[in-house]
Amino acid sequence: MSDVLLLNGPNLGILGRREPEIYGTDTLDDIERAVGEEVAARGWGVVAEQHDCEGALIRKIQNSYDTVGAIVNPGALMIAGWSLRDALANYPRPFVEVHLSNVWARESFRHDSVIAPLASGVIVGLGALGYRLAARALTATVR
Ligand code: DQA
Repeated sequence: MSDVLLLNGPNLGILGRREPEIYGTDTLDDIERAVGEEVAARGWGVVAEQHDCEGALIRKIQNSYDTVGAIVNPGALMIAGWSLRDALANYPRPFVEVHLSNVWARESFRHDSVIAPLASGVIVGLGALGYRLAARALTATVR
């Protein structure tokens, strides 16, 4: 079966109880299930991983070149995760960057992403719905 890679970075494993006023109450399990529902339309599955360490995210990307595309929330690694950025530069398929919160409405250190220039698209500020929309974007655009 073809799979979508769903990758979440530092501090996203505690979604649901992490600053819910900013990140909402959906857990990562909820999000993984929602992405699975969206991509099922294409007969795809989901390979989901969350890591607090940049190296583990990089290793997963390196081992996932056979996936059809990816959804990536790099968390704060958006700001200076150059090694993650380089790993995604060699990822051979399209990926969508997602942020639950509207990073541009927050502190200025969140306003730039070193990942975004490589992404097919970026979805911010729509909460957990952003992951569904990213999944839909992949189902609509990946050949
Ligand atoms: C985040 C935004 C980042 O700035 C923050 O460091 C996160 C979560 C989001 O999903 O809104 O960890 O990526």
